[in-house]
Amino acid sequence: MNTKPVIILGIESSCDETSAAVTKDCKVLANLIANQKIHELYGGVVPELASRAHQKNMVPVVDEALRKAGVRKEKLNAIAFTRGPGLIGSLLVGSSFAKAMSLALNIPLIEVNHMQAHVLAHFIGRESGVGSREQTPNFPFLCLTVSGGHTQIVLAKNYLEMEVIGETVDDAAGEAFDKVAKILGLPYPGGPLIDKYAQEGNPNAFKFSKPNIPELNFSFSGLKTSILYFIREKEKTNTNFFRENRNDLCSSIQHTIIKILIDKLVAASKQTGIKEIAIAGGVSANSGLRTKLIETGKQLGWKTYIPPFEYCTDNAAMIAIAGYFKYLKGEFAGQNTTASARYRL
Ligand code: KG4
Ligand code: ZN
Repeated sequence: MNTKPVIILGIESSCDETSAAVTKDCKVLANLIANQKIHELYGGVVPELASRAHQKNMVPVVDEALRKAGVRKEKLNAIAFTRGPGLIGSLLVGSSFAKAMSLALNIPLIEVNHMQAHVLAHFIGRESGVGSREQTPNFPFLCLTVSGGHTQIVLAKNYLEMEVIGETVDDAAGEAFDKVAKILGLPYPGGPLIDKYAQEGNPNAFKFSKPNIPELNFSFSGLKTSILYFIREKEKTNTNFFRENRNDLCSSIQHTIIKILIDKLVAASKQTGIKEIAIAGGVSANSGLRTKLIETGKQLGWKTYIPPFEYCTDNAAMIAIAGYFKYLKGEFAGQNTTASARYRL
């Protein structure tokens, strides 16, 4: 076991956030994120524009992360980067940068699976007092990872061994939030806005049917279509329908998405007998989901874990932490490693 602190530079560029972080063991020294505003104009992420923005932002973001952390690049022990899954053009920028920097500094390169990193975000700060042992999940635990691109129930056996035991057969939960928001005329990304309006609305004002999907899998595309038809129908007789019912609509839609997610999590816990339950990914920032998880956990005797807000959505701190656990195991990548858009857990 390594006793000297391990300093890692993490690079995240799987979608539309260019992020760099510096960690010392599980402690975050700096976590910088450059958001790409350009996509708001198009109502969703435009892959070609995302990779160009990564290209522009990467060096300044890394520079600033090192400066903020007070770490000279010569002090880095390794560079961890997101290998996938994600947008290939975006991943190529981060992976090429990480390869070049590891070569120039002659330090190990570590490839990280973005979905594994979302789960490992729970261990950020563990040894720095932010999260004590009791506040971090004990293995084995279940993690509902809900983001813009994925919806999975992951069985985490240890830091690096994880199994997907359920996943979406079509849209991801975050995608459902964003697509429904688009139908409602809300700007991208719509998830946080639906969350905001939902807090002022009645979750039982409107009823939407839930999909009947076997086992621990999810589906969200039918819900999206049924909401589209529902709104069209209502607006035939009242063109102000959305404006007059915005908060109730958002609240009812959010309630339905959360119910779909939590019902499967309950089934997964029953099936595996595991009561250590975590959530991760961008949608785990949703206030309704956070509250419902805690409530359900109290009823069913679970120990529940929710990451701090800043580590729910995409960030490089989680990449660096995942890199740290791989570093301890000596799991390094060669210069021949490739970005992988469909990299599976
Ligand atoms: O993990 P993430 O940052 O990126 C991906 O890996 O996809 O997740 C982004 C997703 C977006 O769909 C966004 O709308 C959703 O997370 N999201 C939320 C909230 N904050 C972010 N969805 C619902 N409520 C929120 N508060
Ligand atoms: Zn993500």
